[in-house]
Formats: sequence, structure tokens, C-alpha cells
Amino acid sequence: MKRDFLHITDFTTEEILDTLELAQKLKAKFHDKEKYHVFKDRSLAMVFAKPSARTRVSFETGFTWMGGHALYLGPNDIGIGKREAVKDIARVFSRYNDVLMARLFEHKHMLELAEHATIPVVNGLTDYNHPCQIMADILTVLEHRGNIDDPKIVYVGDGNNIVHSWLKLAERISIDFVCACPEGYEPDVDTVSSAKDAGLSDITISHDLRSAVKDADVIYTDVWASMGQKEEATAREKIFAKFQVNEKVMDSTGKDTLFMHCLPAERGREVTDGVMEAPYSIVFDEAENRMHAQNAIMVKLAEWSGMI
Ligand code: CP
Ligand code: NVA
Repeated sequence: MKRDFLHITDFTTEEILDTLELAQKLKAKFHDKEKYHVFKDRSLAMVFAKPSARTRVSFETGFTWMGGHALYLGPNDIGIGKREAVKDIARVFSRYNDVLMARLFEHKHMLELAEHATIPVVNGLTDYNHPCQIMADILTVLEHRGNIDDPKIVYVGDGNNIVHSWLKLAERISIDFVCACPEGYEPDVDTVSSAKDAGLSDITISHDLRSAVKDADVIYTDVWASMGQKEEATAREKIFAKFQVNEKVMDSTGKDTLFMHCLPAERGREVTDGVMEAPYSIVFDEAENRMHAQNAIMVKLAEWSGMI
């Protein structure tokens, strides 16, 4: 039976911890320039309906380092769900490739892709979530803190796909998660309920930035207008202005707080240049860890699917 990684909750707690351990091992190998050709003669199809820098380059570089070949299909190549049915693409690529990674608009298309593909499918972001990002993020927290025992993660900004993946992680790993957002920009209600019902983590949705960031181990932000919402960017600037992560916010937590951002950042909007460049900013470790986390995810999926 093939396995997919469409949500953090597709993995059990033990599987997440194993994946993080493997990611650290693969990171060390990569830095030591060791050969690790587990995907020799294998190919990864990467389907992008939206733009990307990190996801494309980290998947392609990672899969190549693991001995395989990665193919990039951009927004104009397939027209997934428009020029061709999602379920047809799933079956066609399953005949050529060994792993399928996709970045799509609609989450239901990601589910459909996985349902009809006979090879592992990895979610490289949808309007709903971004699980690879949050696996890399928790790996980064682990490296910087030395543990992931109940870190207080305060996400500041739009209750978007990044927040949904943090909430999914909260179902599997105990964290103190706060989402501070303007009214009307809260994360999906069912996803919040599900995270609360899992009973493992503390989950708070707040509209008061000042109290939300108190005692934060990590302050995390993301763009105010995600891909597909860019025409709302100017209107959102006013609504989100009070939720900018600036030096004053970082200095007000009452402890040493790390700054994280999935990137790309819009400096001067959700985050200041000063915060991005500060010693407490770990955004480039976070970006690097995308590759190591994803390599580990693909190796685990290949193992569990009986491919390697
Ligand atoms: N963080 C992230 O997914 O970046 P890209 O959109 O550049 O892939
Ligand atoms: N929320 C952002 C994340 C980008 C990695 C977006 O969807 O555009």
C-alpha cells in the first residue's frame, strides 16, 4: 500500500519523530558530501500550479542528491483540473514516475490526486495547508532549542495554510500554539476544533498581539496576502497593520525569542528588515531545512510503500 504526505496528521507521532531523526541524519550526510543514492534510477514529478522558489529548488536538489531525477512542470504546462482532469494526471504520472509532488490551489484536487495515483504523493502547498513547511519548521525548532517539549509558538498574521499545518502538528506533538490575527482572519474553525479535541496541545486564537506574544519561544509570521489573494494586498495592509512583527514586538515577549518565517517575506509589511536580519532570526536555517525534512519524508514514504 502506497503512503502519501498530504497533511501532518497523515503521519503518527512516532512516524513524525522518526522522520525528524532521519532528516537530521540526512542533513549531516549532505553537509559531509556523502553519497546517498536511495533513489537511483527513480524519478520525481513536480507539478506546480503556483509560483515557488524554495519548494521547487529544495525538492529538485534533494531528489537529485538522493540519486534520482526530478522533473519540473510549471503553471502553464499541465493546466491541472482545467486542461486535464486531476485523476487523469494522477494515473498518467503513476506510469512514468516514482514520486509525485504537487503545489495546487484547491485542496480537494490534492486529495483527488492522491486517491488516483498509485505512487506516493507529497503536498507542496495548497490553499488549505503546507505540511512540508511545518515539518521543516519543527525540525528547525528542535535544532535551535535542543528539544520540542511544549515550545510556545506564536503565529502572527493571517490564519492561512501555514496556520492550518501548525494546528495539524498540534494534534501529534504537544505545543503551546497561539494564532494572533485580526478579526475575520481566523484559521478554519473545524481545523481549530480538531486540534483542540486531540487534547495534546494548548491552542489559542487571539486578536490581541501584545498579550499573545508573552513568553513566546518562537514568533512566526507569513505574508498577509497569500498566493491567489495578491489583489487583496493593499486592502489587507490596513487591516493587518497592527500585526506587523517589528523589533518592538520581538523585544516585548519577556524572554529570548526566535523569529521564523516560511518565506518569501514582504519586508516592511508583515515583518521589518531589522527583524529579518536580527541574530534571533532563523529564517535561513528554516529554509535550508525544507530540503532535509522533505528528503526524509520521501525516503520514509518510499520505505513504507515498499519502493526501497
Ligand atoms: N516557503 C515556501 O514554500 O516557499 P516557496 O513558495 O518559494 O516554495
Ligand atoms: N501563505 C503563503 C505561503 C507561501 C509559502 C502562500 O500561500 O502564499
